[in-house]
Amino acid sequence: MSEFKSRRAALAAELDERKLDALLVTALPNVRYLTGFSGSNAVTLLLREGALLFTDPRYALHAKQASGRVKVCRGPLLKDVVETVRRRRIRRLGFEKSRLGFEAYDFLRAGLPARTALEPVAALVERQRMIKSDEETALVRESVRLNSLAFRQSLRHVREGMRETDLAAEIEYRMRRLGAERAAFETIVAFGRHSALPHAQPGARVLGRADWVLIDMGAQYQGYASDMTRVLFHGRVSRRARQLYRAVLEAQLAAIAAVRPGVAAGRVDREARRVLKAAGLDRFFTHSTGHGLGLEIHEAPRLGRNEKLRLEAGMTLTVEPGIYLEELGGIRIEDTVLVTGRGCEVLTPTPKEILEI
Ligand code: GLY
Ligand code: MN
Ligand code: MN
Repeated sequence: MSEFKSRRAALAAELDERKLDALLVTALPNVRYLTGFSGSNAVTLLLREGALLFTDPRYALHAKQASGRVKVCRGPLLKDVVETVRRRRIRRLGFEKSRLGFEAYDFLRAGLPARTALEPVAALVERQRMIKSDEETALVRESVRLNSLAFRQSLRHVREGMRETDLAAEIEYRMRRLGAERAAFETIVAFGRHSALPHAQPGARVLGRADWVLIDMGAQYQGYASDMTRVLFHGRVSRRARQLYRAVLEAQLAAIAAVRPGVAAGRVDREARRVLKAAGLDRFFTHSTGHGLGLEIHEAPRLGRNEKLRLEAGMTLTVEPGIYLEELGGIRIEDTVLVTGRGCEVLTPTPKEILEI
């Protein structure tokens, strides 16, 4: 059985359990997961006995590569979905409740007979996607590898006086030259105090003599994301910066050491917080410790303080504690890790000792 078929078969069993005749999959990453189709306009009707992919004529050729049956629609995709659901006399149709807009819901409700129940479904495909197959893990690995290589190549181009956007452009150019389709998210390059914004947007700020440089970058390779943050010091590092960096690194290593199957996601977060608290820095750690990644840059599970979900082998996660001081700047250290049978493997090969450039 092909990988896509076995993914669909696993979900068909879930449909059965929930007494659903079909699930309308409208989230594009879920469509890709179930069929391999990567175009920008598609929905999938997942039936117990197979899947139907609906797309428009721009993607007719592209869709020939997809797994499952394809319907090329002349008008709105949902019009054809409604027809199919009617023709097949589907009684209970699930839909992805966080991924279907109000207008689309209204269109379905108006077009379907009253006897067809529309059932909201939460994160059914996303839950299965948390555990990566060997094939998926290999793609995440490659994404991580080329991302780290792009980072290394880009460092050669760091010069005083360059703008944040110059370095961001260099990074994204390198990624693509190395085989990425694109960046997995908008590359973050922040100089000096600008790095105090956890999700800073690169701008026209120029690199000064004693600035630090926060780079948060990820590649998308055959659909799969990587995610890494490093902080570099341009010129000599002050004692204070060195202390802060060491504390964040210690927190990150403690969190990584806590990653293993069976552990609650919140426990990993609390490990990072414990170390930063001991250093008196926990109030500057304003986000969660990490997140799953795969076909999306942010996916389940979330490594947040109170997350009860237990980690399992095959999950790919980021571990990324950070502290943000308005007057000084931000320091975040982020790796991509794979949960293994007994612990975890840090996939990111980029060194983490203090780097002065
Ligand atoms: N690059 C976004 C994040 O680290 O979550
Ligand atoms: Mn991240
Ligand atoms: Mn990141």
